[in-house]
Amino acid sequence: MPLSGKRILLGVTGGIAAYKTAHLIRLLIKEGAEVKVIMTTSALSFIAPLTLATLSKGAVYHAFFDKNTGEWTNHVELGNWADLMVIAPLSANTLAKMAVGQSDNLLLCTYLSCTCPVLVAPAMDLDMYQHPAVRQNLATLRQHGIEVMEAATGELASGLSGQGRMPEPEDILSAVFTFFRPSGSPLTGKKIMITAGPTREAMDPVRYISNHSSGKMGISLAEKAAERGAQVTLILGPSSLNARHPSIQTIPVSTAIEMYEQAKKSHAQSDIAIFTAAVSDYRPESPSSEKIKKKDDKLSLTLVKNPDIARNLGQEKKPGQVHVGFALETDEGSGSASNKLKTKNFDFIVLNSLLDPEAGFQKDTNQVTFIDKTGKSQKSQVLKKEELASKILDKIEVFFQTTEPQENR
Ligand code: PMT
Repeated sequence: MPLSGKRILLGVTGGIAAYKTAHLIRLLIKEGAEVKVIMTTSALSFIAPLTLATLSKGAVYHAFFDKNTGEWTNHVELGNWADLMVIAPLSANTLAKMAVGQSDNLLLCTYLSCTCPVLVAPAMDLDMYQHPAVRQNLATLRQHGIEVMEAATGELASGLSGQGRMPEPEDILSAVFTFFRPSGSPLTGKKIMITAGPTREAMDPVRYISNHSSGKMGISLAEKAAERGAQVTLILGPSSLNARHPSIQTIPVSTAIEMYEQAKKSHAQSDIAIFTAAVSDYRPESPSSEKIKKKDDKLSLTLVKNPDIARNLGQEKKPGQVHVGFALETDEGSGSASNKLKTKNFDFIVLNSLLDPEAGFQKDTNQVTFIDKTGKSQKSQVLKKEELASKILDKIEVFFQTTEPQENR
C-alpha cells in the first residue's frame, strides 16, 4: 500500500466541506496511512469528532486541555509525530492566522511547531476566495513552503457557483501520494510540456473546424507526471476536463496558432515535451467576421496549413531534451507513424489507430503501439488512459536513468 507506515496529521477547520474529511480519512487509511485528527472549535459544528475518531481509529484532538482528565495535549509531540500535515478544509480565517503566525488554538500551535511538510486544501465562497487579502495569504503560505492546492470550481454551499470548493478527497489523496512517492524518480524536478486536447479554427464567429479529442490522454499524462514530482505545463485546447494536481500549470488555448505560441514559450525550458494534442492541420484562410449566411447549395472554404508544432519544435530540440509524439491513424498506421517519428524528430511515438475499438478519442481506455527510433515496435494491451500514461512515463524515465548520451536520442 503506497502510504503504509506514513503518519498523517489531518487538521480540519470550520466549513461545510468538513464533512468530506470523513471520506478523505477512509481513503488515507485504505492506502495504509496512520491518521490523527485535530479539529478547530468551529469544525465541531460541521462534523462530529466521533465520526472522525471512528474512521481514523484514533483520537481526535481539539482542545489544549481535556477537562475531564486534566491532561494536556502536547502540540509539539503531535507535530513531531507527523510525516505530513494536511489541513482540509482550510477556512479563510485559519488561512489568515497561518499567514501571520497566530497561535490561538491547538491546530495553529501544532502547525507552527511541526517540522514536516504541510499541504492545505482551501474551501470558501467564491468571492472570499478571490479577495485580494485571501490571495495574498495563499501566496504568503506558498512563500513559507506550504503546498497550497487550488480550490475546485463548482456548486458552493451558498448556492453560487464558482471556484471555492474544497478539492475532492481523491484529489487531496493524489497530492498526498506525491509527497511520499519514493524519491529517485528521474522525473522529479523535471520540467515537462504537454500539448493536449483539440484545437478550434473559426470559420465565422459561430462555427469552427475541430475534432473529437477530449483532452483525457494528455491530462492523464500531466497528472501522472506531476505525481512523479515533475513540474508540468499543460497546454490544453478546449476541453470540459481539468487537471487537478498542484504541480500542473494549465494554459488554456483555442487555436493551433495559440497552442504553438504557448508551446514555443515553454519548450526552451522543458526537459521533456509530449505532443498529445490533436491539432487541426488546416484553418480557414479568412474567417468571416459575420455569421456566414445560408445562400447557395455549395459553400467553398479555402483552408491554409497550420504550423506543425511538434515538427517545428523538433527542429529546435536541444541535446538532452526528450520529445514524445502521438500518431492517430484510421488504418493500421505503422508506416505513417514511423514517418512522423523521423520527420518530427521524436524519441519515440505512440500510435493509436481508430481500427482498435478501445482506442482513441474520448474513451477512458487506449490501445497503442510504441515505435522507437531503431524501428522496434511493441503493441500494448487495452489500458486505462492513466495506466498508459504511466507506461509512457516509465519509457521516458529510461532516457534519464543514465548520464551517458542515449544512442536513441
Ligand atoms: O484527447 P483524447 O480524447 O483522450 O484522445 C487522445 C488522442 C486520440 C487525441 C491522442 O491519443 C492522440 O492520438 N493524439 C495525437 C492526435 C494527432 O493529431 O495525431 P497526428 O498523427 O495528426 O499528429 C502527429 C503528432 O504531431 C502528434 O503528436 C500531434 O500532437 C503533432 N502535431 C500534429 C499537427 C500539428 N499541426 N501540430 C502537431 O504538433
